[in-house]
Amino acid sequence: MAVFSGNAHPAFAEAVCKHLEMPLGGVEVFNFSNENTFVRFLQNMRERDVFLVQPFVGDVNTRIMELLIMIDAAKRASAGRITAVIPYFAYGRSDKKDQPHISITARLLANFIEVSGADRVLTANLHAGQIQGFFNMPVDELNAMPLIVEHFRSLKLDRPVVVAPDVGAAKDASNMAARLGGDVAFVDKRRDGNDETAHSTTIVGPEVRDRDTILYDDEILSGGTVEAAITLLQQQGARSIYVSCVHPYFRGPAFERLDSADITALVYTDTVPVDAGAFEHVPTHEISLAPLFGDAIHRIHTGGSVSALFR
Ligand code: R5P
Repeated sequence: MAVFSGNAHPAFAEAVCKHLEMPLGGVEVFNFSNENTFVRFLQNMRERDVFLVQPFVGDVNTRIMELLIMIDAAKRASAGRITAVIPYFAYGRSDKKDQPHISITARLLANFIEVSGADRVLTANLHAGQIQGFFNMPVDELNAMPLIVEHFRSLKLDRPVVVAPDVGAAKDASNMAARLGGDVAFVDKRRDGNDETAHSTTIVGPEVRDRDTILYDDEILSGGTVEAAITLLQQQGARSIYVSCVHPYFRGPAFERLDSADITALVYTDTVPVDAGAFEHVPTHEISLAPLFGDAIHRIHTGGSVSALFR
């Protein structure tokens, strides 16, 4: 078995290897001055069970290309099996043709990964579970929810209300509420066009006045979705507002929005690197998924059950 990292999030790959008690494999991945990417593995790959770690974060399109070239290089070096380890899968929101004349980019990306030579994919909390079906190969989708729940359990909140900031997050929020022994509520969110502005007008569910509340979403980008939900919860007198997500893809106004929103705490995982120092007011808590990924890699390698990890 050998684990390698692209340039997207080497600290995560290092943490996975630390958990596995093995060194990260040697690979050169860089761009020439013409922005053509070069990849060279620095060890024998023949018949190895190879895991290539690369969340699609940062300069997303470049990181995708890096992973595809790494897969191709591993294949051509006679790797025995290649698993693309993608803690955050980009383009997840482009999973259907819900406007005229647009692409289904998540499907296109799955095709790219397949034709480059990957044998399987390991990822976490896809934006839509159906994206698994875009691949004609095994996809193991890890679930960060039990670890997030474990954190909130440790806070001993009194029957919290788990709030989905839009209907897309409703199923997860309901699941989280059941695990925490709390209630669930949903926010009615609408978007006008593609400009990342969210309009949220109503909370559907139990009274939140004087209750501990936990907003849960799979990902936060501009922070617009949760900001609108936070405003509603504040107007309706919630006692505390925790904001949580799996993929903290904070960009643009997200830091300012979250830092100035007067929330109790912000909880997220490490699938995307975050500069927590950029938050001056809101306490943050990062949950590492590296041990979960490490355990999954070990089980894939040894033929163990992966789903048993997050039941
Ligand atoms: C949308 O369906 C997702 O679950 C998130 O709500 C969305 O990606 C968050 O984006 P933003 O933070 O830009 O509102």
